Amino acid sequence: MPNLVFLSLTITICLSIFHTNFHVQSLTSSSDIQALKAFKASIKPSSIPPSSCISSWNFTVDPCSLPRRIYFLCGFTCTTDSKHINQITLDPATYSGTLTPLVSQFTQLITLDLSDNNFFGSIPSSISSLSNLKTLTLRSNFFSGSIPLSITKLKSLESIDFSHNTLSGSIPNSMNSLTTIRRIDFSFNKLTGSIPKLPPNLLELAIKNNSLSGPLQKTTFDGSTELAVVELSENSLTGTIESWFLLLPSLQQVNLANNSFTGIQISKPAHGGGSNLVALNLGFNRIQGYAPSNLAAYPLLSFLSIRYNSLRGNIPLEYGQIKSIKKLFLDGNFFVGNPPPGLLAAGATVSGSLGDNCLQGCPVSSELCTPAQKPSSVCKRA
Ligand SMILES: *[C@@H]1O[C@H](CO)[C@@H](O)[C@H](O)[C@H]1NC(C)=O
Ligand SMILES: *[C@@H]1O[C@H](CO)[C@@H](O)[C@H](O)[C@H]1NC(C)=O
Ligand SMILES: *[C@@H]1O[C@H](CO)[C@@H](O)[C@H](O)[C@H]1NC(C)=O
Repeated sequence: MPNLVFLSLTITICLSIFHTNFHVQSLTSSSDIQALKAFKASIKPSSIPPSSCISSWNFTVDPCSLPRRIYFLCGFTCTTDSKHINQITLDPATYSGTLTPLVSQFTQLITLDLSDNNFFGSIPSSISSLSNLKTLTLRSNFFSGSIPLSITKLKSLESIDFSHNTLSGSIPNSMNSLTTIRRIDFSFNKLTGSIPKLPPNLLELAIKNNSLSGPLQKTTFDGSTELAVVELSENSLTGTIESWFLLLPSLQQVNLANNSFTGIQISKPAHGGGSNLVALNLGFNRIQGYAPSNLAAYPLLSFLSIRYNSLRGNIPLEYGQIKSIKKLFLDGNFFVGNPPPGLLAAGATVSGSLGDNCLQGCPVSSELCTPAQKPSSVCKRA
């Protein structure tokens, strides 16, 4: 009798294991399947190469069922219970098409990465439903239109990369509601307007090569205590870079080159602010006045470029005494007098350029002194 009970128990367990397995094989939720079908259907068939990931998406089998031998070979992953798609990372395969608004049905999606393809059209605002999304990468496509306001509702977002598209319009004002975001890259688009207030936990901001305008405003950066990287080169930013900016507490790397800044105020690092600054690029602006000697007080500064501005007067003596400096570009200004002795001393390890200024005593035999100084006729007029 006990044996019989044991046997029937065993059979029940086996059956239920079999039953469970059977179901796991085909349990991708119907709304995820529908979204995946719509995702593929929004891509022009002629742009899907035969050996690409999407070409293997054949809906005669269940997308999440394992093992995957011929179909659904790549381009996405499923949750461990095989019910939902949790990641879409496409291969760069020249896929051309739009991004379906049904993308919002991937409720468990953590990563959406379509980089290096030919997607076009607007970014669907329904994307805001992806409440688990951490990484949104649409880099190097042809997305156009404006950045949907709704992205500011993506409460789990950690990284957003829309770089190298043709997005226009201004950056949504409520970006600062993205409290989990660490990295924003909107570089190489056609964005206009000013930079709105930044999210509090942002580490890295890159909006290079757009058409941003106006000055850097304190309200934009207030509260971004972790901001380490600011890349805003090749825009139309104007005004004076005020002293609070370099004193942002975590700032390490700043590139503001190729804008239209006209002034710069620098105070010595204070209360920890400024003490992490490693690289500062202010080249190719319209900065006037004297070179700020206080820059020499930034203890980790190793790259400094203020080349091709309209700076005049002497190069501060302090610039010859920055212990951490490796690269120094002061070329293309109207500096006069002798270079600081520290820069040209035997054994000095600084590279860069002091050329194309109005300096005396900058021997062309020194690499730092190339290219040659401006002709005296130009220097007299300045
Ligand atoms: C999908 O697979 C079925 C069965 O293997 C096949 O008949 C069909 O042609 C495939 N469809 C596509 C679009 O490759
Ligand atoms: C942006 O980059 C393109 C090349 O990628 C260049 O032609 C253009 O001049 C740049 N824009 C600005 C404002 O520097
Ligand atoms: C700025 O523009 C100059 C001249 O067009 C170019 O050589 C340089 O690479 C640009 N630098 C940056 C950081 O954009």
